[in-house]
Amino acid sequence: MINATAPTHETPRRLAGKVVLVSGGGTGIGRAAALAYAREGANVALAGRRAAEIEATARDIALAGGDALPIVTDVSQEDDIRRLLAAVTAHYGRLDVAFNNAGIIGNFAPITEQSSEDFDRVIAINLRGVWLAMKYEIETFLAQRSGGVIINTSSWLTHGALAGSSSYSASKGALDAMIRAVALEYSGQGIRVNNINPGIIDTPMARGSVADSAAFAPFIAHTPAGRLGESEDIGDVALWLATDEARFITGQSLLVDGGYTIAGMR
Ligand SMILES: NC(=O)c1ccc[n+]([C@@H]2O[C@H](COP(=O)([O-])OP(=O)(O)OC[C@H]3O[C@@H](n4cnc5c(N)ncnc54)[C@H](O)[C@@H]3O)[C@@H](O)[C@H]2O)c1
Repeated sequence: MINATAPTHETPRRLAGKVVLVSGGGTGIGRAAALAYAREGANVALAGRRAAEIEATARDIALAGGDALPIVTDVSQEDDIRRLLAAVTAHYGRLDVAFNNAGIIGNFAPITEQSSEDFDRVIAINLRGVWLAMKYEIETFLAQRSGGVIINTSSWLTHGALAGSSSYSASKGALDAMIRAVALEYSGQGIRVNNINPGIIDTPMARGSVADSAAFAPFIAHTPAGRLGESEDIGDVALWLATDEARFITGQSLLVDGGYTIAGMR
């Protein structure tokens, strides 16, 4: 006898058989996204500067029954990016989705207290690194004749301001402008390019930028959601943007900030 209330099949996993590349996948937002991609059946390549961190994420994915490949990479180095894409396609045979998420906060200080080297370093990783990654990822998609999805991590700071953020904000604001052009260039080939603009998310980066957690109180007080973001809040959006459910979205920078920006930042 058939029990009509029992499910007759498992829900298909949303990224089954896909290959996803995550940069900065050893910590914070990148790690949460990598775990979400793997949960939905993707093979996950993890790029990051520190081997121990990306290896730990790879181990956790394997323990949960998934498949991950850690590849030590400095995203600001063109040779590293070339080698990264070559390693991913050699190992998994293809690339379907890239989450270009690695970034640094840099020297968060008033402009007169920053050096031009501070500025160059933030731009090299947060902006040039994403430009480089997109260039080689799109070349890979075109060579496969497959289409593909790119998601980059921008910031709520492209809509607001914090004293000390001039270099960081410049790097992220440029990402929002840049993807509109890239999305136009390749939408005809089935390639979607979007940014996620997180609010303040409780990650090693955010913790490292304040003396103690009391510094977050004013942000929480002015966030309609009533809390800081968690890495999973962003990882789950990075997952959704990678799926076919987001097939009609391209060239967009999506604020994921619990309403902080629309409520008027203080
Ligand atoms: N936490 C926040 O409040 C917040 C808000 C808005 C945007 N973001 C952005 O989110 C992204 C992820 O940051 P997070 O908050 O998870 O912090 P995080 O410091 O945990 O993650 C950043 C990751 O990038 C990696 N990385 C840094 N430079 C690299 C390089 N040159 N090559 C390869 N990997 C490198 C780090 O090793 C780290 O794993 C960053 O782009 C950050 O700017 C964070």
